[in-house]
Amino acid sequence: MVSGPRCPPGLWGLLALLLPLPGARGTCDSPPRLHFAELPGEVNNSYPVGTKLKYSCRPGYILSSGKSPFVTCLENSKWSVEAEFCEGRRCKPLELENGRADITDLRFGARANFSCDEGYRLIGPTFAECVIVGNGVDWNTEVPLCQAIPCPPPPGITQGSHNGQSGEEFSFGSAVTYKCDPGLSLIGEASIHCTTKDHFNGEWSGPAPECKVVKCPEPEVKNGRKQSGFGPDYSYGNAVIFACDSGYTLHGSSSVRCEANNSWVPSLPTCLRTCDSPPRLHFAELPGGVNNSYPVGTKLQYSCRPGYILSSGKSPFVTCLENSKWSVDPEFCEGRRCKPLELENGRADVTDLRFGARADFSCDEGYRLIGPTFAQCVIVGNGVDWDTEVPLCQAIPCPPPPDITQGSHNGQSGEEFSFGSAVTYKCDPGLSLIGEASIHCTTKDHFNGEWSGPAPECKGLNTGTVIAIGKMRVILAVLITNLFIRQ
Ligand SMILES: *[C@@H]1O[C@H](CO)[C@@H](O)[C@H](O)[C@H]1NC(C)=O
Ligand SMILES: *[C@@H]1O[C@H](CO)[C@@H](O)[C@H](O)[C@H]1NC(C)=O
Ligand SMILES: *[C@@H]1O[C@H](CO)[C@@H](O)[C@H](O)[C@H]1NC(C)=O
Ligand SMILES: *[C@@H]1O[C@H](CO)[C@@H](O)[C@H](O)[C@H]1NC(C)=O
Repeated sequence: MVSGPRCPPGLWGLLALLLPLPGARGTCDSPPRLHFAELPGEVNNSYPVGTKLKYSCRPGYILSSGKSPFVTCLENSKWSVEAEFCEGRRCKPLELENGRADITDLRFGARANFSCDEGYRLIGPTFAECVIVGNGVDWNTEVPLCQAIPCPPPPGITQGSHNGQSGEEFSFGSAVTYKCDPGLSLIGEASIHCTTKDHFNGEWSGPAPECKVVKCPEPEVKNGRKQSGFGPDYSYGNAVIFACDSGYTLHGSSSVRCEANNSWVPSLPTCLRTCDSPPRLHFAELPGGVNNSYPVGTKLQYSCRPGYILSSGKSPFVTCLENSKWSVDPEFCEGRRCKPLELENGRADVTDLRFGARADFSCDEGYRLIGPTFAQCVIVGNGVDWDTEVPLCQAIPCPPPPDITQGSHNGQSGEEFSFGSAVTYKCDPGLSLIGEASIHCTTKDHFNGEWSGPAPECKGLNTGTVIAIGKMRVILAVLITNLFIRQ
């Protein structure tokens, strides 16, 4: 223990209790246990400061160049240890022909995984480890072999041969090509090659071809001719292309090939007289698609378009005739009919009741039209009907006839006056009626009613206030005439 001059002795006692004892006494604990190195001999629990110990590298390890195997107990009670001063010894590099050894590291403890290139198979261990052998390290197993995957000899065929040599070994990637004896056709793939599915066993890419006599019959197409492939003999693989004579259309494939079963594939085409696409009709349509060409004899059935119905006694069928024309019954569908229209006090002018027809409404003299002026026969649901209600022809009304002073008319109170009704005026006794006694309800614009003239007036003659000049002349003339007759 070191003592300071200015500290009271009691404090030093307290410090001595708090400080760890070994360090405080200037010692180190046992030196560290290392995976790569060990201390020869016994190891004590405690060493005085300044102790120097020498480690030895463990088996499989070697002292790293420039590093020290010595450790020292330092003043701070710790051992000075250089990091990783021993390193794993290295195994020799590995080489694998036609394959690879996957190694991250060659040092003691490393693992090498072996694999072969495509087409080779591994014979031997799949991995090796770098282990202690004698005083050093080495791989714990031999390097395996990457062997080319072998195939069995290619199959032989009758009436033909392949180009493989007798005694040849066939391995992954090798190919052989077959050839047939003269006059025979080779059916299938001429060449096959050695391949593998499981990366271990070899097999041929396909079956060997066959050698056969193939002879297809002379191909004949009525109303057609060959464009290429003129024979005279046809064997496997020969192709023929056909065209039809003019006026005929080719049905099927224009090109056929002679197949191994001695037949033409696909089957020979036919040349048929044809019709163009059937006519487009405003009243009927063809359900489903329409093609450009139909063979003679084709029968198609039209359906009437909406708003139309099959005319009685007519046929919705059309047939492609020998002359390449379609037989079509004219107008075999007719417009459906809308119901007849009736208009009280008026008329509906309709030329026709069929789908598409138009009815124009008008009212009789003295009536006015309330509602639409025309209607059309249109598609409604599955049938047809007028697109609007029938209008109303209403008697043209007049206002009540005007009342006059000192007179009356013969209209009833509450009566409705309409076109044609008339009223007659009458004056109170002793009074004269000036004007037209009767007026009637009429119209100028065919819509609004008005009275044919003004109401008359009632006057006392003796008062004589207003006498029309015209009437005065008549009276004067009568008086003068009477005077002359009396003379
Ligand atoms: C361990 O300590 C004992 C005495 O306690 C001593 O005899 C021996 O030499 C020490 N060993 C080492 C390796 O220092
Ligand atoms: C070797 O194979 C093992 C097991 O499949 C795997 O864990 C390891 O990472 C591989 N090592 C190398 C270097 O590829
Ligand atoms: C001939 O073989 C082909 C396939 O190559 C086949 O489509 C055709 O139906 C066969 N014909 C006959 C007559 O067997
Ligand atoms: C039109 O021709 C095609 C083949 O060319 C056929 O599948 C189809 O049924 C034909 N359609 C009609 C309406 O004849």
